[in-house]
Amino acid sequence: MHKNIAVLAGDGIGPEIITEAIKVLQAIEKKYKHSFSFEHALMGAVAIDATGNPLPEKTIEICKSNDAILFGAIGDPKYDNDPNAKVRPEQGLLSLRKTLNLYCNVRPVTIYDRLIESSPLKRDRIEGVDLVIYRELTGGIYFGQKKEINDKGVASDLCEYSKEEILRVAQLAFKAAAKRKNKLTLIDKANVLASSRLWRSVVTELHRSEYKDVELDFLFVDNAAMQMVLNPAQFDVILTGNLFGDIISDEASVIGGSIGLLASASIGDRYALFEPIHGSFPQGKGKGIANPIATILSAAMMLDHFNMVTEANAIRDAVQKTINNNIGTPDISPDKSSTTSEVGSYISNIILQ
Ligand code: IPM
Ligand code: MN
Repeated sequence: MHKNIAVLAGDGIGPEIITEAIKVLQAIEKKYKHSFSFEHALMGAVAIDATGNPLPEKTIEICKSNDAILFGAIGDPKYDNDPNAKVRPEQGLLSLRKTLNLYCNVRPVTIYDRLIESSPLKRDRIEGVDLVIYRELTGGIYFGQKKEINDKGVASDLCEYSKEEILRVAQLAFKAAAKRKNKLTLIDKANVLASSRLWRSVVTELHRSEYKDVELDFLFVDNAAMQMVLNPAQFDVILTGNLFGDIISDEASVIGGSIGLLASASIGDRYALFEPIHGSFPQGKGKGIANPIATILSAAMMLDHFNMVTEANAIRDAVQKTINNNIGTPDISPDKSSTTSEVGSYISNIILQ
């Protein structure tokens, strides 16, 4: 099969981890007789530096004309530390999500046996954890009307959700739950927020009308944050809005021992983008210490999306073996660490065997 892939390496460690994901995809091409083409485009701080715009028109065109998008990381301290910056790298990613209508962000959390000791949680809390977060990605407080500081010293962000926006991501989350452990937890703040009460009523109604067999429960986000460290094994599919999903998924990511392992898919009805959940780790840039596994596993999710399930599983198996053999960057193999590129090559070689 032939597939065209748009590649947005982005900022910081982005280019290094993307190089390894491409290496692994090239091993898949060879082993399974596919062909992939890679078309690179600019987004983030690199795009601001080159064009003044974090998401140039040309990048949108390239994203739309390929079969999927593989993305590295975004963000640069020179913008983070300047509250008056007119443009920010993150605007590139946010407006790409909006432009391509990538409303559903899927973030699976998997535990690797060898890394249980690297987790900040005790073994008995994390054994058996296998959960996936469905985060709404194009609405809520991220995209509501923003008012920057006025002459009274006030700024605001509006959190707005429509039934339609909730329904489409909830459908996908229920479908996933029905194929997994049949449990869905909605995380919200319905005791305080009107938009959360809308989430509850839309999700309750969808459950009643189409997914009665899925067990549905609700957690307020503050309690959910606590449950995520007390007893994360209770979760199967988590469904939540944009901001809560952002926060809870970073929290969930460290359970597995490193944020450098967590992949994600951002999907809409027409386009799909695959990216690690971690950021651009500017301090690690160019040092060969960035963990490429989250990006490599994001490439595996891209293959699932292409219906290349055997190939996607081959990547996941190779990652599993690599971790078991204690081949890893310093975050997961502190005693005997390999470089970013060595990890990518090791995974590729297992695939090619
Ligand atoms: C993520 C990131 C982004 C977000 C940033 C970079 C805008 O943290 O994908 O989780 O907040 O959604
Ligand atoms: Mn985030």
